[in-house]
Amino acid sequence: MHKYSSSQVESFAALGIVNTTTEPAFRCAARMFSNSLRGKAVLDFGCGAGRSTMFVKALGARTVIGADINKEMIRLAKKKYNSHGLAFYNVTGRIPFRDSYFDSAFTAHMLVESRTTKEMLAVLTEIYRVLKPSSTLVIVTSNPKALGHEYKVGYTKRKKGLKSGDRVDTVINGRPSFTIKDTYWTEQDYHRAISQAGFKLVKASYPLAKGKGWLDETKVAPNIVYKCMKT
Ligand SMILES: C[S@@+](CC[C@H](N)C(=O)[O-])C[C@H]1O[C@@H](n2cnc3c(N)ncnc32)[C@H](O)[C@@H]1O
Repeated sequence: MHKYSSSQVESFAALGIVNTTTEPAFRCAARMFSNSLRGKAVLDFGCGAGRSTMFVKALGARTVIGADINKEMIRLAKKKYNSHGLAFYNVTGRIPFRDSYFDSAFTAHMLVESRTTKEMLAVLTEIYRVLKPSSTLVIVTSNPKALGHEYKVGYTKRKKGLKSGDRVDTVINGRPSFTIKDTYWTEQDYHRAISQAGFKLVKASYPLAKGKGWLDETKVAPNIVYKCMKT
């Protein structure tokens, strides 16, 4: 995972969704869930400071549990969103819920913080464990084809000769701007980890932004959105 400094966590916590580079992917995720979250218990794994958890709650979920390895992110998420009926847990590896507890799960911008394919598989396997059979996991993750493109809020610098597992710099234009050490993964890496964890990949989307005020978000999708099903 990336080691966020306190000021990076504060800057990340101040980011919203609307008008940011992630907006098209979150809109797409909302379509993938359609109305399936109404009244359900949902997990947001790698919830950061809680914007993605709040997003899931706004789709009609009854309960949303945000889980993250970073204590400072969880502290800010609790401060910002506890009054919205969300609950947040600091986790290292194990999600503190029984097998097949959740009706659905979401994970956004988390897989690129896995440093090895083994680590990526471990987090997906743990999400799989706590999901009910036939339930949906929606993943938002960086599009490897987006490297080097210019985006409003987050863009990943292109490097020559990248291989799976190499570190890449993602610049987040927050206040202040900062750089996250992400990991370069190909689509094949994502597909392999998804299926090895036991999920069926149902759909992959490459959502573009529409309208004015964007940079390359209208030309090359910054993120891929995967709809997966627990088989
Ligand atoms: C870029 S942030 C995204 C946060 C949030 N999902 C959002 O979209 O705003 C990625 C988060 O994933 C968390 N993370 C990375 N690896 C993790 C792991 N193995 N277990 C739990 N959380 C993890 C990081 O601590 C970080 O808060």
